Amino acid sequence: MALLEIVTWPDSILDAPGEPVTEFGDDLKKLIGDMFETMYSAPGVGLAAVQVGVPKRLFVMDCSGGKDPDQRVVMVNPEVLHVEGEQNGEEGCLSFPGIFTPVERSLRAVVRAHDINGNEFELDDTELTARCMLHETDHCDGIVFIDKMSPLKRELVKRKIRKLQKAGKWE
Ligand code: NI
Repeated sequence: MALLEIVTWPDSILDAPGEPVTEFGDDLKKLIGDMFETMYSAPGVGLAAVQVGVPKRLFVMDCSGGKDPDQRVVMVNPEVLHVEGEQNGEEGCLSFPGIFTPVERSLRAVVRAHDINGNEFELDDTELTARCMLHETDHCDGIVFIDKMSPLKRELVKRKIRKLQKAGKWE
């Protein structure tokens, strides 16, 4: 397995929807293994393929941060089937290092996807897992979390990033 380079905003790959995955072979398994390693090393709880420069619709997540093997999830070609309720909580993104801002999300999400072998499954969850599934599915659709913020909050985050860029602390 290998560590992959994480793309930071405003790289244009983050704004383009990924292509659907059609091949469930060794290349996909290697990519997924590398993405898990990269996510745990960062560390983060979710990572989409577009964030490592691969324009495909898939992500890995583990809301336990590697503590609970049952939380290790791969979602290929994710599709949000149902959402309900609201939650508002601090959110971050590995493509926005050091930026943590409250983002409104649905409290519950039902997402259908393929697993690593191409078998279809659904994940129905709430709280952090729902937030993570929605954040990562957005990445597969070319949407980043600042797109979900109010215009005012988005401007504040962009201003903070411009400052970091000027100081040479944003790559
Ligand atoms: Ni993200």
